[in-house]
Amino acid sequence: MDIEKTFALLNETEPLKISTSREITVAVMGAGSRGNEYPEYGKLFPGTLRVVAVSDILKSRREAMAEKWSIPADRVFGDYREMLEAGRGGKLADILLIALPDDLHYEPAMEAMRQGYDILLEKPMAQSEKECRDLARRQRETGVMVAVGHVLRYSPYFRALKKAIDSGLVGELVNIQHQEPVMYAHMAHSFVRGNWHDGKATTPMIVAKSCHDLDILKWLAGRRCVRVSAEGGIALFRADKAPAGAPERCTDGCPHEKDCPYSAIDIYERKRWFLYVFDLKRDCPAEEILERLRTTDYGRCAYRMDNDQPDHIVVTLLFEGGVTASFSLDAFTPWGGRRTRVMGTEGYIEGDGKTFTLHRFRTGEAREWSYAPPEGGNYRDSGHAGGDLALIRDFLRAVDTRDFSLLSSSIEASVESHVMGFACERSRLSGTKEDV
Ligand SMILES: NC(=O)c1ccc[n+]([C@@H]2O[C@H](COP(=O)([O-])OP(=O)(O)OC[C@H]3O[C@@H](n4cnc5c(N)ncnc54)[C@H](O)[C@@H]3O)[C@@H](O)[C@H]2O)c1
Repeated sequence: MDIEKTFALLNETEPLKISTSREITVAVMGAGSRGNEYPEYGKLFPGTLRVVAVSDILKSRREAMAEKWSIPADRVFGDYREMLEAGRGGKLADILLIALPDDLHYEPAMEAMRQGYDILLEKPMAQSEKECRDLARRQRETGVMVAVGHVLRYSPYFRALKKAIDSGLVGELVNIQHQEPVMYAHMAHSFVRGNWHDGKATTPMIVAKSCHDLDILKWLAGRRCVRVSAEGGIALFRADKAPAGAPERCTDGCPHEKDCPYSAIDIYERKRWFLYVFDLKRDCPAEEILERLRTTDYGRCAYRMDNDQPDHIVVTLLFEGGVTASFSLDAFTPWGGRRTRVMGTEGYIEGDGKTFTLHRFRTGEAREWSYAPPEGGNYRDSGHAGGDLALIRDFLRAVDTRDFSLLSSSIEASVESHVMGFACERSRLSGTKEDV
């Protein structure tokens, strides 16, 4: 193998900018963080994408999106059902972006496929294996295009890593070790206090947070997963671990506030992280943040929440042909950013979500891959290491040309990763090995 030549191919990243034969229109359900992220593509590259309808139960959010995209008043809806109702007389746009909370994906996606929309459906696709399979069946029946928000598949980093494996740079693939470091404050914010604290109302942590990772492992391995087993639980965020005298809220004069890494005052008011959940800007007055901490779950003691999501999970996976992988989700890290190690018969790769190093055994050489921005802009630093905008680019192109093969995260591919996630959760809860 010509290593030089093969390695050079890894950097063949597609430009972010494409041109479409027409401006593709989008109806957005859920004008929150994700609902705003993907349409940014149309602002970066005018003429490709336009938001023409929006639905959000929060007036401030739907109005902000309506203003940003000059959406006429009769296309601005509150509850998503109103938007679906309006679509019964003819769809409102080419694409429907479903960026609602996890428990509101299945129903609108099923109905929207019936109405003929091509859909960008945020992960998790649905809340159970059965619902995932229903969605796949409805997609086959209707023939619409559905992309699931597995953004990592589109990031230049993971694409290069996959090319490295597929081109044989490590010889035959034997095992992958993969870690998702959630980061301590992100864990407390999203999975202890926030939207995903209840795995039954949303989806279990391994699906909610890690369906991306299971999906990327299956994709990197390039084969079907046959068996999984999982362990894990809540090590810290539970009442019996609460420090003595900790009150209900961090703002109630907690004696541990000055030392506790999970102090809401420290995370939101001092560090000014995650303020988007309050629709506040980083430079807003402290009192505005403290008011939110006194009145929402985000100010509650992280040990006294009604949370059930594990803060550590380890999974083993067996793929066809005997390839194995291990995955760990870890709340207790100072940073996010996936870490991956790939072991093959002739080489080894170690990566941190941005760069990776290939080691070849026979020659002892080590080669580093890092992102070389293609013509048309640097997009690695957009959401999910560039994956967010690259996903919408590929989806627009697929919709424009009706070429399904341009979509890496098709509904069928994604059903499999979700099924793996539900199997992991069964295993974690029952101590069994689960066939997938
Ligand atoms: N692909 C990824 O990497 C990724 C990353 C983060 C989140 N997500 C997923 O994207 C989805 C949205 O997450 P988010 O972070 O944008 O959440 P968000 O809370 O910022 O946005 C959701 C929006 O939906 C609105 N909403 C709730 N109920 C509604 C209803 N009945 N009708 C209309 N609007 C309603 C809310 O007001 C909110 O503005 C979730 O399922 C989440 O798991 C995916």
